Amino acid sequence: HAPDGRHNGDIHRDYNDDRNASSQDTLYTTSNGVPMPHPYETQRVGENGPLLLQDFHLIDLLSHFDRERIPERVVHAKGGGAHGYYKTTDPMDDLCLADISQKDKQCPITIRFSTVGGESGTPDLARDPRGFSVKFRTDEGNWDMVANNTPVFFLRDPAKFPHFIHTQKRHPATHLTHGDDSTMFWDYLSQNPESVHQVMILMGDRGIPDSWRKMHGYAGHTLKLVNKQGEWVYAQMHMKSKQGTSFVTQEDSANYSPDYSQKDLYDAIEAGDYPGWDVCFQTMTPKEAEELWEKQRINVFDLTHVWPQKQFPLRKVGEFYLNENVQNYFAEIEQIAFNPSHMPPGIEPSADPVLQSRLFSYPDTHRHRIGVNYQQLPTNATRTPYRVANFQRDGNMAFHNQGSRPAYLSSIEPISFRNRSVDLSKVHGNFIGNAVSFLSEIRPEDFNAPRALWERVWDEGARERFISNISGHMSNCRSEEILKREIGIFREVSEDLASRLEKATGVKGYPGIAGLRFNGTHNGMADDGKNKSAN
Ligand code: HEM
Repeated sequence: HAPDGRHNGDIHRDYNDDRNASSQDTLYTTSNGVPMPHPYETQRVGENGPLLLQDFHLIDLLSHFDRERIPERVVHAKGGGAHGYYKTTDPMDDLCLADISQKDKQCPITIRFSTVGGESGTPDLARDPRGFSVKFRTDEGNWDMVANNTPVFFLRDPAKFPHFIHTQKRHPATHLTHGDDSTMFWDYLSQNPESVHQVMILMGDRGIPDSWRKMHGYAGHTLKLVNKQGEWVYAQMHMKSKQGTSFVTQEDSANYSPDYSQKDLYDAIEAGDYPGWDVCFQTMTPKEAEELWEKQRINVFDLTHVWPQKQFPLRKVGEFYLNENVQNYFAEIEQIAFNPSHMPPGIEPSADPVLQSRLFSYPDTHRHRIGVNYQQLPTNATRTPYRVANFQRDGNMAFHNQGSRPAYLSSIEPISFRNRSVDLSKVHGNFIGNAVSFLSEIRPEDFNAPRALWERVWDEGARERFISNISGHMSNCRSEEILKREIGIFREVSEDLASRLEKATGVKGYPGIAGLRFNGTHNGMADDGKNKSAN
């Protein structure tokens, strides 16, 4: 203690103190707290002389400014979010032992919405899937649901992800994005036909949701829920917007401001019109999953397919609302780190290879994007009733370095443990199939859901808008061969679709994919080379 009784501990100002800082009761200082008379001053040798190296105030100012930017997210760089809360409305403790799934449970949450391909300054109404990430700060640690607004994804082989994303970034030579040159984009898609379902959603009405408030969210991946008896089921999580869904047309999207969705969310919350979502699960026993594969050729580890809702109905378990805008965007949203491998006991990953890869990729990028101690930042820190303790120490910016506690498992100062809730060997012991497979194969069933979209879900207006959107985008593709292949893929969805696209683009596509070889995927529909291959 200093003689006046002040303790060094006082300087550990708490998160809320910093977050609610206002300009009143402040004093202008350097970063080490030394008061300065004015922010514009510099130390010079006489009135017109050079500056002095001893001017810490100026060097402090400029060098901090030089380091203001952290790397933007490699995908989903453009986004925004808010805070709120989740509450359990219908307990699912019969299926899941996680504390948050029990009766009357609540927890604070933060959500970040985003587009995928664009850089951080790009319009938030871009035609692109939307990211929909929720951090549930549960009593058993943070659970992150890192989801999209579409139930399916472009790929099911994780090694394709960097390739696919690179086709949506700037071209190495022209530095153009796919808005001006869509060749790379269609090249990738025409070589990887399993993308077709997501491409139809993207190029259809759902490709531009009318604000973040009016869209659903989907885990996409199959998860596992484990109950107290150690029994488990496969599960899909859905977040259903209480505001309903609505979309903006391609033409109309040009009339909106670049930050329309951000403003819409911020203004709604400020006006007390808090947006909400229902949280629902579809579940499936392992036996049902095997039958689904045998009878309908739907593999629960393949996120290019959905689970039929008639067979596996949604069960509502809770709801969440956003009721608080952020005070500081950078601290609370830019530095937030969502990670699919953040799961409380009772919620487990499935063997979906894309999910398994994501479990690695997110914390890896966080160590790079934010730093090794990113979990210590207030926006990422837990709000558990117990004090979090482990043996991770030091590294850049170790802010909560766990005091004087031993940095090893000590017998002199023991630490407490909670027993594992279930026998994990039971939860991870069951896989479908036993062959090693490296790359997926295109099968006729890959076209069933896209065909249903075209034939049954969409009305004539939706079909016309789709043809107009997609042919507009294809007009920037420099290779006719790529378009012929992509139209061949669409022909597997529907002859009607393919011929309308041929009319709109003026390109005659392949008769189907039987004669095509793909550089990214085995063609399970190949006809032994009897048809002339495009390659
Ligand atoms: C962001 C990797 C597939 C949803 C990211 C980031 C990486 C990444 C590195 C940046 C994270 C950050 O800087 O904080 C991957 C890989 C994938 C994959 C390697 C496949 C192999 C998916 C899928 C979904 C998804 C299938 C949805 C079902 C998101 C979302 C974000 C994101 C919502 C933004 C998170 C935020 O708001 O901070 N992804 N991703 N990703 N990804 Fe993925």
